[in-house]
Amino acid sequence: MKHLIDPMDLTTEEISEILDLADDIILNKEKYSQICQGKKLATLFFEPSTRTRLSFEAAMMELGGNVLGFSSADSSSASKGESVRDTVRVVECYADIIAMRHPKEGAPLLASLNVDIPIINAGDGGHNHPTQTLTDLLTIRREVGRLDHFTIGFCGDLKFGRTVHSLIKALSRYEGIKIVLISPNELKVPDYIKTDILDKGNVEYIEVKSLENSMPELDVLYMTRVQRERFFNEADYVRLKDTYILDMNKLQNAKEELAILHPLPRVNEISVKVDDDKRAKYFVQALYGKYVRMALIMKLLGLEA
Ligand code: CP
Repeated sequence: MKHLIDPMDLTTEEISEILDLADDIILNKEKYSQICQGKKLATLFFEPSTRTRLSFEAAMMELGGNVLGFSSADSSSASKGESVRDTVRVVECYADIIAMRHPKEGAPLLASLNVDIPIINAGDGGHNHPTQTLTDLLTIRREVGRLDHFTIGFCGDLKFGRTVHSLIKALSRYEGIKIVLISPNELKVPDYIKTDILDKGNVEYIEVKSLENSMPELDVLYMTRVQRERFFNEADYVRLKDTYILDMNKLQNAKEELAILHPLPRVNEISVKVDDDKRAKYFVQALYGKYVRMALIMKLLGLEA
């Protein structure tokens, strides 16, 4: 494993190793506090982020390393026309590992073909978000207790939601996963996810419109935001943005052990009243994101405690 561009770059064994390491970091933070001394992480974010960028930076700091980078294309020389290829070739002179977010699908892959240091895809357009997937898998494993034999509902913008695409890919390799795809017609999961991932992997799935009707059978509910920035016109966004709003009323028929995940940011799709319900796991999920990124940085740099 040199780069992480697509969740399928990792075998299920490698995923287990990363999650095991994250679990150990959570238990033994001091043991890892100097492991990246003298190492630098560059965060190259050509698109906005709160969790991914800051959790990567916190992760590197808690490993004893340093961070540098930029948080928008406007504050980098991309605004003067510099290519991704040239940007990463220069940053390679200053850093040991790069986490990159870019609005164009494939930009982190292109970067990985042009440098010798590890590149981590921190989200590329509507395509993939593999470190969110590791975060989601760690959350499910810790909060549900297993990565197999459960029913997960994905609800909201399944068309543009890269976190959904990446998590479906990753889960397609585990036994006994049933997927309920809950969306309006306009925001259904792309066909390639159905043909290349779900059908090929013999994963049981259904496409439905009603969140309420699906609720009783779910072990995990993965809520998503309607991705305004990827819509071609504002009128469509306004029409679709509040299709699903999870509130306490809708949770009446849910399992007591349901785990509610959301990659965040949230807009309207989960009522703040749900935050106090023990089934709401989306803030601890954001915390787990830091630990799983610590584990990933260590793995990609070939470091052991
Ligand atoms: N989940 C996630 O990718 O959040 P940010 O866009 O804030 O990084």
